[in-house]
Amino acid sequence: MDFYTTVLRPFLFRCDAEWMHDQSIRIGSLLGRLKTACKTLSALYDFSDSRLTAEIIGIRFPNPVGLAAGFDKSGRSIEALAALGFGHLEIGSISADPSAGNPRPRLWRLPQDRAIIVNYGLPNDGAVVVAERLAKIKPTVPLGINIVKTNRGIDAPPESDDEIIDDYIRSVRTLKDCADYLSLNLSCPNTETGRDFFTDRQNTVRLMTALRELDIRCPVFLKVSPLGGIRAIEELLETVEGEDFVSGFIFNLPPGKPDNLKTPQNIHDTMTGAVSGKPVEQLINQCICEMYKRMDRKRYCIIGVGGIFTAQDAYLKIRMGASLVQLYTSIIFEGPAVVRKINEGLCRLLERDGFANIGQAVGTMFN
Ligand SMILES: Cc1cc2nc3c(=O)[nH]c(=O)nc-3n(C[C@H](O)[C@H](O)[C@H](O)COP(=O)(O)O)c2cc1C
Repeated sequence: MDFYTTVLRPFLFRCDAEWMHDQSIRIGSLLGRLKTACKTLSALYDFSDSRLTAEIIGIRFPNPVGLAAGFDKSGRSIEALAALGFGHLEIGSISADPSAGNPRPRLWRLPQDRAIIVNYGLPNDGAVVVAERLAKIKPTVPLGINIVKTNRGIDAPPESDDEIIDDYIRSVRTLKDCADYLSLNLSCPNTETGRDFFTDRQNTVRLMTALRELDIRCPVFLKVSPLGGIRAIEELLETVEGEDFVSGFIFNLPPGKPDNLKTPQNIHDTMTGAVSGKPVEQLINQCICEMYKRMDRKRYCIIGVGGIFTAQDAYLKIRMGASLVQLYTSIIFEGPAVVRKINEGLCRLLERDGFANIGQAVGTMFN
């Protein structure tokens, strides 16, 4: 047990989850402006080992453990988060126009399940403001930008298919030269239009066709729903086959609550949203396996995210076929040192299994 879980967490968990998160972004933003603060954070949390570095999709990652989208929605704390030892950061989701997201409350912790219920509905500062912010900084680790359609609220008039596609295109146009990679969120579980639009294959085709015109020079990942099984994975691969700018896939949270929650129903009944963390780990791992078995491995790679708390969890996703991994929920439950612990543990697991570097472990479950 460490200081975070024994002393800090009980105190932090007494505060409202969203308020606490906002404070951490605010503090991160302040610390990021102070070089000495970032150096101190790096000295405390960073861990480097040449066995963990990997060159993937033309980008050099210092280690495979990244921060998942949703933590730093508008790229306010990039410098401080990079100092925590992440191998990459994915900011967003960012939309063409600013959004206030869904009404509060919209974020809850489920300690019994090591999970979070999230119904943010994509609040963010909008692509133009974020692009201006990014122009002033130089991230020390690769930066991914996650893009989504603007959530205009439940009272907004319905939008046409063309307007939805155009929203993505405007964001991509504004942000494509600010990132090392883009991740297109095609499956936000917490907005009406985000949930189902891309289950109609024709809409993915239309988005891909529109993106082709944009001269995107960085790799593009598609963050897709983990529902739909093998058929949905095969359909996705068929749909993007001719689109050279697509470099890989990430599986998002499923909408709604899984059946396997340990938290009593009367407690989570009033908490509407999608569930992150341990309860979704198995579903996402199945998707990673099925995708890895079917995809062209020379062309695509997978970023595995969902329920990673330990080096073993991360290593399992890597052996299933993920070239990189990300986390969100475990940083809330285990504190910032979780990144270093996972990276240290990965080195031990590589040594145990006789791998010279992390790349050699990718997909070994199927060799
Ligand atoms: C509070 C919260 C907010 C999130 N916001 C976003 C988001 O804006 N865009 C996105 O693509 N994913 C978002 N996610 C999903 C995460 O990026 C990640 O896919 C998911 O939480 C699984 O990882 P974890 O189990 O390590 O948390 C969010 C997750 C949480 C818990």
